[in-house]
Amino acid sequence: MKTVLMTLSTIIILSLLGGLTVMYAGLFNVATAWEDPALVRWVLNTTREKAVARRAASIEVPSLGDEKQVEEGFRSYREMCAICHTPPGADASPTAQGLNPEPPDLSKHVEHMSEAELFWVIKNGVRMTGMPAWGPTHDDTELWNVVAFVKALPTMGGAGYRALDQQAEKGHSHSGGGHGDETQMGAEREAGHDNEPHEEAEHQDDGHAH
Ligand code: HEC
Repeated sequence: MKTVLMTLSTIIILSLLGGLTVMYAGLFNVATAWEDPALVRWVLNTTREKAVARRAASIEVPSLGDEKQVEEGFRSYREMCAICHTPPGADASPTAQGLNPEPPDLSKHVEHMSEAELFWVIKNGVRMTGMPAWGPTHDDTELWNVVAFVKALPTMGGAGYRALDQQAEKGHSHSGGGHGDETQMGAEREAGHDNEPHEEAEHQDDGHAH
């Protein structure tokens, strides 16, 4: 019994020393270009999946999917997500190409995730992967709009995405209320600036969803 305990504690101490040596001698390669061995990837993916599922279980999902939500979600996605999660029909940006783990193609990946899981990941991010948390800077209503948009992605395709893009551009110039001649376009630009804070205020007004 005594020898078993001695052997066990020697193994534990040697493993700790080994770990510290790898750390302090700078032996672990933190470069993104270094591909994870399959076992490491499996451990990381499984850890993430289980952690997200557990934390998302208690989230209440509001009603999602009306056109307005998807449109608002699209605007956020274009601004906040598209640089890493390449939209349908587009080429991956240098940022997206330089990340490890690779940001998944959401039009395929979302089929494996519930709305609550999507919301949790978008709000809280994924540690040590490059996936940011948007909760500190955006309210829940805005984030649910992003979920509504992301859920609509698989059926959208490149043409659908471009259509939303054009619609958003049109919406933007209409909001200024100009008719298109030179002077009014100037006024429109100014009005466009003024619109930003109003939009924010609106979001906060209808922020009941959690
Ligand atoms: C700076 C790059 C970057 C930005 C910006 C970014 N992501 Fe990610 N995202 C990642 C990476 C990298 C992963 C892969 C994480 C992993 O494999 O563990 C990821 C993973 C995800 C996942 C899958 C998580 C899972 O549990 O499988 C979702 C969903 C997601 N991102 C949504 C979004 C949305 C929506 C936005 C915009 C609001 C966004 N991301 C912005 C880099 C980014």
